[in-house]
Amino acid sequence: MYSEKVVEHFTNPRNMGEMEDADAVGKVGNPTCGDLIWIYIKVKDDIITDVKFKTFGCAAAIATSSMVTELTKGKTLKEAYQITRNDVADNLQGLPPIKMHCSNLAADGLHKAIEDYLRKTGRTIEDLK
Ligand code: FES
Repeated sequence: MYSEKVVEHFTNPRNMGEMEDADAVGKVGNPTCGDLIWIYIKVKDDIITDVKFKTFGCAAAIATSSMVTELTKGKTLKEAYQITRNDVADNLQGLPPIKMHCSNLAADGLHKAIEDYLRKTGRTIEDLK
């Protein structure tokens, strides 16, 4: 039921683990299944230089988190904020319909991490170039 890409990211997740010196963190939970994701980012000159994730979740949650970190690294905060759950699913060659909500988590976690960073630097998303 999963694409090759999902299986590949689930069995070999990229950028997994906690980041001790993160500049910002986004945490999201899925009320339906109880799964949790943390996305950690390091930022320099509004560019995401490093990103990691930690998750207590299903195979899709792990694969989508891994994909989000790959899509995010090296992007500006604004570009990363525009990454959607569909981008995540598309880059994983699709997700089974009942698993689409799982990709929501990773994208939301990333958006929250960016919002956390902006809050810490006294800005909002509208301030980004
Ligand atoms: Fe909970 Fe996938 S079943 S995130």
